[in-house]
Amino acid sequence: MMKRKLLGVLLSAAMAAALVTGCGGGSTPTAAESTEAPKETETTKAAEEEKASEAESKEDAAGGEGKTGGLVGVSMPTQDLQRWNQDGSNMKAELEAAGYTVELQYASNEIATQVSQIETMISDGCELLVIASIDGDSLGTVLAQAKEAGVQVIAYDRLIMNSDAVSYYATFDNYLVGQKQGEYIVDALDLKNQAGPFNMEIVTGDPGDNNVNFFYGGAMDVLQPYIDEGKLVIPSGQVEKDDVATANWSTETAQSRFETILSSYYADGTQLDVVLASNDSTALGVANALAANYTGSYPVLTGQDCDVANVKNMIAGKQSMSIFKDTRTLASKVVEMVDAIMQGKEAPVNDTETYDNGTGVIPSFLCEPVFADADNYKELLVDSGYYTEADLQ
Ligand code: BGC
Repeated sequence: MMKRKLLGVLLSAAMAAALVTGCGGGSTPTAAESTEAPKETETTKAAEEEKASEAESKEDAAGGEGKTGGLVGVSMPTQDLQRWNQDGSNMKAELEAAGYTVELQYASNEIATQVSQIETMISDGCELLVIASIDGDSLGTVLAQAKEAGVQVIAYDRLIMNSDAVSYYATFDNYLVGQKQGEYIVDALDLKNQAGPFNMEIVTGDPGDNNVNFFYGGAMDVLQPYIDEGKLVIPSGQVEKDDVATANWSTETAQSRFETILSSYYADGTQLDVVLASNDSTALGVANALAANYTGSYPVLTGQDCDVANVKNMIAGKQSMSIFKDTRTLASKVVEMVDAIMQGKEAPVNDTETYDNGTGVIPSFLCEPVFADADNYKELLVDSGYYTEADLQ
């Protein structure tokens, strides 16, 4: 088909843009370190011992001015998804290298667990908390306790809503993620020139994750005009936020919803041209459903995170693209923020308009997400040391 041939040409043009990466800087843990799953709770003694001497030399370098070191709590949502393991271990390694002691916890995607882990961090004397929330709206009470105790909070990757205890937000530009996914679809189907109609289905993420609004919003701002023109149609009719959501971003939930869509709307041989999947865990569910229940020509399929399983799928032609969010760059930026806050300074930000959490705009640092596909993954992921070739076999 015409559109499939166009893919290669369009993708190599997109590659150029892809090589401009994130928010830069910082040390880069090896792939082995960054993919290794740490234990649910880690506060290493070795780190504490190292801390003293590192903090000393850091103070020397800074002319003895400003506070360094201290206990930092890092609260991550789950170990089920590859990226949070990388985020957690990168944060821990970089904070320790900067002289901090780290209390790292994963909450098994259970809100109550995350709340109680944060309570423990506060009572353990953490001076600052870095939190990737499970549900953006569920931390108000515990963060009021943090504020009361003088503990500052950085929202990590996902904005924490309706809490005035949040000082800063560090993330990738979530709107841009969605926009890039939408633009990819426009190019892949050549929607500017082709009349279609092309059949599309949509799979997003957890409705309690504020990022979902930006991912979906960014993509739909690009795609809506083509839906309005009738070039893109959605046979299932499922477009509302609640209809396309995937609780906990679960692969299995995405897969079973997609199996139902395939059996209800595509079993008669109707061609599925494109699936807008907001991230890799949901894209994996779609790919699994397609493998078992769909015999038509393979649709364009988007994703996000460059998880190992999805990069393998890209190489095998079962996923068209992903968005690479280098967790090393986000971790480095957060360490800079932590350092500034601990020294009573303003943390670096580059956006003071976009992210209102209901109590006002939270000063944010947005790293730049990068487009990845089967053509550029080696350069982006292997040459940069994020993965080894062996990881992707
Ligand atoms: C993150 C994505 C991730 C998703 C599921 C989002 O908040 O920004 O990178 O794929 O959560 O964990």
